[in-house]
Parts: sequence; C-alpha cells; structure tokens
Amino acid sequence: MKITSRVGSLSEIETPLLVIPWCQESGVEEEVAEPLPENLGDLDAALGGTLGRALTAGDFRAKKRQSLLLYRMGTQGPQRVLLIGVGPRAALVAERLREAGGQAAGRAREVGVAELCVAAPDAAGGDGSLTLEAAVRALVEGLVLGAWRFDEFRSSPESPDSPALEKVEILMADRAGQGVVSAAVQVGEVLGRAQNFARELAVRPGNVATPAYLAEQAQALSKDLDLEVTVLTPHAMREEGMGALLAVAAGSDEEPRFIVMEYKGGGKEAPLVLVGKGVTFDSGGLSLKPPAGMESMKYDMSGAAAVIGAMKAIAELGPKVNVVGLVPSVENLPSAHSMRPGDIIRAHSGTTIEVLNTDAEGRLILADALSYAARYEPKAMVDAATLTGAAVIALGHHAIVLMGTEPDLLEQLQEAGERSGERVWQLPLWEEYREQLKSDIADIKNTGGRPAGTITAGMFLREFVGSIPWAHLDIAGTAWANEAGPYQPKGPTGVGVRLFTEWVIGRAS
Ligand code: BES
Ligand code: MN
Ligand code: ZN
Repeated sequence: MKITSRVGSLSEIETPLLVIPWCQESGVEEEVAEPLPENLGDLDAALGGTLGRALTAGDFRAKKRQSLLLYRMGTQGPQRVLLIGVGPRAALVAERLREAGGQAAGRAREVGVAELCVAAPDAAGGDGSLTLEAAVRALVEGLVLGAWRFDEFRSSPESPDSPALEKVEILMADRAGQGVVSAAVQVGEVLGRAQNFARELAVRPGNVATPAYLAEQAQALSKDLDLEVTVLTPHAMREEGMGALLAVAAGSDEEPRFIVMEYKGGGKEAPLVLVGKGVTFDSGGLSLKPPAGMESMKYDMSGAAAVIGAMKAIAELGPKVNVVGLVPSVENLPSAHSMRPGDIIRAHSGTTIEVLNTDAEGRLILADALSYAARYEPKAMVDAATLTGAAVIALGHHAIVLMGTEPDLLEQLQEAGERSGERVWQLPLWEEYREQLKSDIADIKNTGGRPAGTITAGMFLREFVGSIPWAHLDIAGTAWANEAGPYQPKGPTGVGVRLFTEWVIGRAS
C-alpha cells in the first residue's frame, strides 16, 4: 500500500472512492439534522444534491461509526463518496479517526476498489488536545490496520474478488499544514505496518512460529534497519545461569532463544529496555491446561511480538534514544524432561523458585530477562506479557493492565496509552500481596493462588527488577480479538506496538 498526501478539491478529485470523516456538529441532540458545510456545496452538486438531502432527511447524522455511501451524477469527480461519522466534535479523539480509517479500508474492500482518497480530518474539536498531526496519524494507522489480511496458510485467497488496498491519498484543501500532514502520514504508516507485523507473528501457530523462528524474524529486521540483534542459544543461557527460562524450556524439543535487539539513537545515554514474553505455545506443561481453547495459546508470545514490532517501528522512525528489546522465548510442553510441580529452580538473579504450577511459566522466563537487563543500567524498563487469565477477568478486552514501581513511569505509560489508543489501567503492587508468594522451602513460589492473580504475578516479577524503574503490562485480555472492530479483524491485535513506540518517542531527546 502506498500512502501519500496532496492538495486537491473534494468535488474535482478523480478517485473511485472519496472518504470524508465527518464530525457531528449538532452535539448530543440527535434529532437535529447535520448542516451541509459551506465548502461542500460543489461536492453536493457533483452528487446531484443527494448529500444535502441525506443530511436534511437526517439519514446521516455523523454519529460514531455511522456511514453513508453516495454516487456521483456525472462523469467527473469522485465516483463514490463515503461519509464516515466520528461523533460529536466536542468529544473528538484520535481513536475515532483510527476507527474511520479502518472502516474506510473495509468499505473499499467490499466495494472492490484498490484505491481511495481521504479528506484530511478537521482536528479542531474535543478538548483541544487533538492536533492535526495526531488526527492524520490515527487515520492512517486505521487504514493500514484495517487493510490487513492474512492468507499465508490458504491455498487460495479467502476473497479473491476483493482487491488489496494499493493506493491511498490524503487530500488537503490547501498547502497550510502540508508538512505536518505528510510527516503524520509517514509515522502512521510505520506504526500500522509494525503492528501488522506483530499480528503476523502472533497469528502463526506454534509449529511455525517457534522460538528459533522468532529469533530469525528479529534477525531479519537487522538486515535493513539500524538494529543490532544478538541471539542466545541454550548453551549461552546455561553460562548466563538462566535457570528459570531453561526450566520452562526443558519439556519441549524446540530449543529456547533469548533475543536481544539494540537500537542506538541516543549516543552514550543509558537505554530504555522493553521486555516481551515469548511463549510460542503454552500447553501449561505438566500442569496441563484443559483442551477447550488451548489452541489460542499460540498467542502467548504476543508480548514478544509487541517488542519486536516496536523495535521495528522505532528503528524506522529514528528517535534520539537508546532502546534494548529483550525477548525470552520458549515453548511450554509436558514431556519426560519437563519441570515438575514442586521443583525448585534457580533464576538468573540467584533467587530460588518453588514451581507450584508449571502453567505459571511466563513469570519464570520474564524473571530471567528482567534480571539480565541490569547489565544495561537502564533508565527504565517495561515488560509486556500475556501473563494471567485473571487480567481478562479484571479488565476484559478493552484495557491493558498496568503495574509498576515508579509513579513518573506509570504516568508516562498512562499518557502514551491515551495518545496511542492502547489504553492502560493501573492495579496496585502493595506489599500485603507479597505474603501470597511465600514459599515454605524456597525464596519464593511461582503462584499466589486465585485472589488477585494478576497482581501476585506482578509482585513475582518485581522480585527480579532490582532498582530499575519498571512497569509491567499484562496484555492477556487485549492481545487477541474475539470480535472484529473497525480496524481489527477477529484474531491477533498486535497490541503494545503503538504503546511502546509512543512511550519511547516521548522519552527521546
Ligand atoms: N499464558 C497464560 C495466561 C493467559 C490465559 C493468557 C488466558 C491469555 C489468556 C499463563 O501462562 C498462565 O497460564 N497463567 C496462569 C497462572 C496460574 C497458573 C497462576 C493463569 O492465568 O491461569
Ligand atoms: Mn501458562
Ligand atoms: Zn503463558
């Protein structure tokens, strides 16, 4: 897909599909018809007055996600015009434009067009915090995310008649803001593609996307981008003393990998560290999961996908900051070599862990990654993991669980979440919860029972962080969509890519 921006008139542009994101001016009084903006008189004429009539009749009120497709009368100008409602102007946020972009891509596919133009959104509205830059960026993200399809494992494409979206133009009325718009287009495109890349890593099943496969994918990125990628094999992990990671890996014939991705845009400064859980399939191990739904555990490497995707986006955008991405990757299977419930293992940090449940494996591999990170003396460290089913119970599918030790860092992530549309909500890491992890025989046990399962997992991770400012993102509820949304088909979401990248860019000098 090629996305560009240009100046042009809505009524004269030659395109098979012109998309107009439309703000509701009438506010909350839903019975009031939307006015026809003065500058759309020519377009209304080209459409034979149907635009004006649709508005007067109240058929289109620009409600959130409402849409209307109109056709031209003559033989010039846009063949089709798609109005997409983004809701009341006073409540306009970037997410509405991301949704509009996704809807536009979906409608283009239905109609069967491979190119479209979108009128640059009018960002004025909301609480004033939505800039033109943010609005265009979100729109483009939505277009790229909404156009994503995955046919890799089909012998022939699912819908051969609907063409891929090949060309998108963002149309501006005049030259004012052209620089802002074209920069925003580029950022939105980079983020959308990186997120699609993460989705593709997560959608591939456990027999394809193995730890070695993830390592190859990370290494492949270093060929074209300013990224240094180092991969630790089991031998190196043993020398490092990564006993927790190796214990999880022991049950599988797939060798574990520990992937290190380094982006150096910040000279001699201490880096930020991103850590992602890379369990390529989580059967539970000897504490075997029930069969129903077990297939979904191919996405237990979504934290890893978020880190790898974010490192790709960061390297493409080139911010002035150093970033290290760490991905511990294993497969969790039962076998004669598996760790057993009751086993006591020694983590990279030296801490001994009593394994009460082999299905609490994510925290074990993250423990080794978090303590490994100390060598970088990072300014801050954030991990993302599909860590607990309890996170799905707590916040469902619309928020990432956030926990951490430093208020500043938590606030940065909160804001990055709002800006990126990947929103987070905080849970506490109070000392009282630590009791639940006391072992009778070792330094700590790997489960804290049913109460506050997400928090006790966070408390467990905290043991391995040392003095580094750290935050943990539990993405168990947000990494996979059971229902389609405007820019999200059923399946992997690639969540975390936008949030991580937004946070990193915000920390750049
Ligand atoms: N990968 C799972 C968590 C998960 C569950 C992610 C559902 C997405 C959807 C994790 O490894 C796990 O099995 N956690 C256990 C921990 C328990 C044994 C303490 C859980 O949540 O049940
Ligand atoms: Mn598990
Ligand atoms: Zn898991």
